[in-house]
This record gives sequence, structure tokens and C-alpha cells, in this order.
Amino acid sequence: MTQTNRQWIYARKPIAQVGPENFDLNEAAIPETKAGEVLVRTTLLSLDPASRAWMQGQTYRSMLNPGDVMAGWGIGEVLSSNAKGFEPGDLVSGEYGWQQYAAMPANALTKHDKAHKPEHILGVLGITGLTAYFGLLDVGKPRPGETVLVSGAGGAVGTIVGQIAKIMGCRVVGTAGGAEKCNWLVDELGFDAAIDYKSGNLYRAVKEACPNGIDVYFDNTGGEVLSAALSRMNLYGRVACCGAVSNYDTATPSPGPAGVPGFLVTKRIRMEGFVVMDFYNRKHEAEAALARWLQDGKLKAPVDVVEGFKKMPSALAGMFAGTNRGKLMVRV
Ligand SMILES: NC(=O)c1ccc[n+]([C@@H]2O[C@H](COP(=O)([O-])OP(=O)(O)OC[C@H]3O[C@@H](n4cnc5c(N)ncnc54)[C@H](OP(=O)(O)O)[C@@H]3O)[C@@H](O)[C@H]2O)c1
Repeated sequence: MTQTNRQWIYARKPIAQVGPENFDLNEAAIPETKAGEVLVRTTLLSLDPASRAWMQGQTYRSMLNPGDVMAGWGIGEVLSSNAKGFEPGDLVSGEYGWQQYAAMPANALTKHDKAHKPEHILGVLGITGLTAYFGLLDVGKPRPGETVLVSGAGGAVGTIVGQIAKIMGCRVVGTAGGAEKCNWLVDELGFDAAIDYKSGNLYRAVKEACPNGIDVYFDNTGGEVLSAALSRMNLYGRVACCGAVSNYDTATPSPGPAGVPGFLVTKRIRMEGFVVMDFYNRKHEAEAALARWLQDGKLKAPVDVVEGFKKMPSALAGMFAGTNRGKLMVRV
């Protein structure tokens, strides 16, 4: 065990795009545990677009302030326990923040079966997979034969949404940045078509890739892709609003999409936002389905693991540049 706890401190609010200059590396003492707490050594930390939104203001969680340990979820190993039900060696997940050690209240930890890979627990069997599962199935409500469009399709949530939609018997189109990522979606993950939203006329590309219109649009990005999707929605289409990554890492977020409320009215479209925590009372249902699809080879869970705690800030910046394929995480 190293004698200090290295932490990334959220030091300065980004003016536009986030980068390493917004963080300071700090060395603190390894925390002591109080009664009811557990000392965890973090092994994998998740990178999430929402981290950038937390710097900007209040979202579904309180805003981060300069000086805070950067917030984030992770997987870790119990080193010592001052709480009933946890033993050294247990595999646990929680909101540890960007640090190597965390003293966590036992009720803020989830214990995991070591039969699953830690990368899967942090990704497809964790928030990522649950978001895809409930957002698509409960909010989007796709039916066999329908066309599903998903934006941010090469990322953590998007890769899983597209594959679940295929399992449901839908025609699936994704939008992603760059031709290579788009080819990968079709060749490796079984999407029917993919659109490079960074090249050419997005409206025309969506029309060509969705000749029968769009029945369900799973929106990870907001912005121009949302406007283009609304223009091709079918009567009684559903838009599942999951996030707006195009608006997080910029000083000039785009205004609301074209077509609201016009298309919503004329096409009777239902547009509904959701937060994954709303579905936590049914998380076992999603975990069981996702684990079964993984085991049956129906679902792939791409992970992009960056090696080294030092790379946390650059990995976060890379996510907004679209460097990741699948779930981005850092091995501490
Ligand atoms: N509602 C919920 O409960 C919930 C839970 C988890 C996540 N989310 C949301 O789900 C979305 C995806 O999250 P994730 O964890 O799966 O991240 P991710 O998709 O793995 O990573 C973000 C991706 O966004 C794309 N991107 C970056 N800037 C963009 C821009 N300006 N326009 C369009 N695309 C851009 C990049 O890929 P490209 O190469 O395609 O640009 C990047 O890979 C986010 O909006 C997140 O906030 C919501």
C-alpha cells in the first residue's frame, strides 16, 4: 500500500472545454474509518459526460465546487471494515470520487459477485447498462420492426441501446463521430446503419439511413442530431431524452431544437426525459437480462480502459473529443 492517498481535485471551473488545467493532483493521508465505515482501495474509476455538467450547475445532483475531490463512480476492493457485512477483499462499487482510497459509509456501497468482470460491473451491468435498458424499453417502448435511432451510438450507453434494440427486433441506426467509429458500429455491433454526424448534411443523412422514418429516438446528445431526428419522426414516435452531451463541454450551448413544439403536435410525438435512478427499484430485472444477453453472446460490452490514475483529466477531455469506444474507465 502506498502511504498517501492521491486525489484529483476539481480546482478551476472550465471556461469552455474541460482539460487537465481544471484539476490539481493532491496527496492526502489515507483516510481513517469511523464506526459504520469501510476503507476502499479504488481499482477502476468511471468517466462520465455528466461530470462536466456537475461543474456547471445543479443537475440531478448538487454542483461541484472548486476545491472538492472530483466526483465519480468506481469499483474497488475493501481493505478494512468497521461495518457489518463487509470483509477485506470484497468487491464493492460506490461514489468514491477521483482518489485512490475512500472511507465510505457501508450504506453507500454495493457489494458485487466476483463472477462478473469489474469492467462489466462498472459498465454494462451498472449505470450504463441500466440507463440503456430502462431508457430504451420503458421510455422508448420499441416494437419489433420499428426503426430506432440512437445518438452517441459509439459510447457507453449508445452501444448497449443499439444492441438491445436489435435484440427487440428493431431496425437500428446510430449517429457517431467519424467514419471509423461508424463502420465499427455496423461491422462489430450489428447496427443496420450508422451516420457520421460530423460530416456533411445531417438532415439528408438521417433521411437516407431511415427511409421509413424514426419510431424511437434515444437522445444522448441533444443539439443538431435531435433537431434532425425530430424532422424524421413518425406519427406517435417516442423520444427518450437521456442526456445532452453536445451541450455540456461548451461556453455556448445550442438553443432548443428546431421542431418543438411543431413536430410534437403534428406527429403526436411523446418526448420524455428520465434519470436512471428512477428505476433502481427494478435494477435486478435489468441486471439479470443484461447478464443473460452477455452470456448468450447476444450483447457485446465494449470497454475502453485507460491505464493510470494520472490520466483521469485527459481521459475526461478525450471523451468530449470522442476518443472512446464503449464505456470509458481508468485503471487506478
Ligand atoms: N439519464 C440518465 O440517467 C443518464 C445516465 C447515464 C448517462 N446519461 C447520459 O447518456 C449520454 C451518454 O453517456 P455515456 O456515459 O454513454 O458517454 P459516452 O457516450 O461513452 O461518451 C460521450 C460521447 O459523446 C460523444 N460526443 C462528445 N461531444 C459531442 C457533441 N458535441 N455532439 C455529439 N456527440 C458528442 C462522443 O462520441 P462521438 O465520437 O460520437 O462524438 C463521446 O464518445 C450522456 O448524455 C450522459 O449524460 C444519462
